[in-house]
Amino acid sequence: MSDLKLNLGCGDTRMPGYVNVDKYGTFGPDIVADLEVVPWPFEESSVADVQLIHALEHMGQTTEGFLNIMKELYRVCRHGARITIKVPHPRSEGYLGDPTHVRPITPNVLSLFSMEENRKFIERGWPNTRLAMHLNVDFRTLSITYAPTPRWHHKLASGEVTNQEVMEAMESQNNVIDEIAMVLEVVKAAA
Ligand SMILES: C[S@@+](CC[C@H](N)C(=O)[O-])C[C@H]1O[C@@H](n2cnc3c(N)ncnc32)[C@H](O)[C@@H]1O
Repeated sequence: MSDLKLNLGCGDTRMPGYVNVDKYGTFGPDIVADLEVVPWPFEESSVADVQLIHALEHMGQTTEGFLNIMKELYRVCRHGARITIKVPHPRSEGYLGDPTHVRPITPNVLSLFSMEENRKFIERGWPNTRLAMHLNVDFRTLSITYAPTPRWHHKLASGEVTNQEVMEAMESQNNVIDEIAMVLEVVKAAA
C-alpha cells in the first residue's frame, strides 16, 4: 500500500514530505495538474493524506466539475486517509472579495458526501441530496473548527460574547467567521 501525501492547489506554499500540486507552474510545484481534469495522475487508494488549504473553493464551478473532484479525491485515497480542508467562510469578505473563488464549501456541503449522514437524511425524511449514495463515495467528518474574524475574536476574548453566541451570529451575519477548517476521513471497504 502506497502512502502518498498530497498538497493540492499548493500555490507558493510547498509542504515538505508532500507531493505539491498546482494548476500553474509559477511557484514550482512537483506536479502541474488541473484538478478539474480527471483522472488525476495518482493510482487508486494510493494516498494517505491530502491538504486542500484555501484551494477547494477555487475549483469545481460547475456541479459536474465539483462532483468529479470529490469522486476523484475518493478514488485516489486509501481507507482511513485524512483530508484537511481549509476554506474562507462563504459569508466573509475573504470569500466574497476574490473572483477566483467559485464554490462555497461548508460542513453541510461536505456532509452530503457521508454515507452515515445520507442514511440519517433518509431516516429523518430530510430532502438533502444523498451524494454519497449517488456517487458511491464516503467521507466522514472528524472535526470542524471555526476561526472568527478579528472583531469577533476580540469580542470572545473580552468575554463580551460566548462561543454559542458566535455560532448563532454566524448563521445570520456576514464576517463573523474568517476560516473553516475541516478534517475528513475516507471510508472504504476493508481491502
Ligand atoms: C489561494 S491559493 C492557495 C495556495 C496554498 N494552498 C496556500 O495555502 O498558500 C489557491 C491555489 O489553488 C490553485 N488552483 C486553483 N484551481 C486549481 C485547479 N483546477 N487545479 C489545481 N490547482 C488549482 C491556484 O493556482 C492557487 O495556487
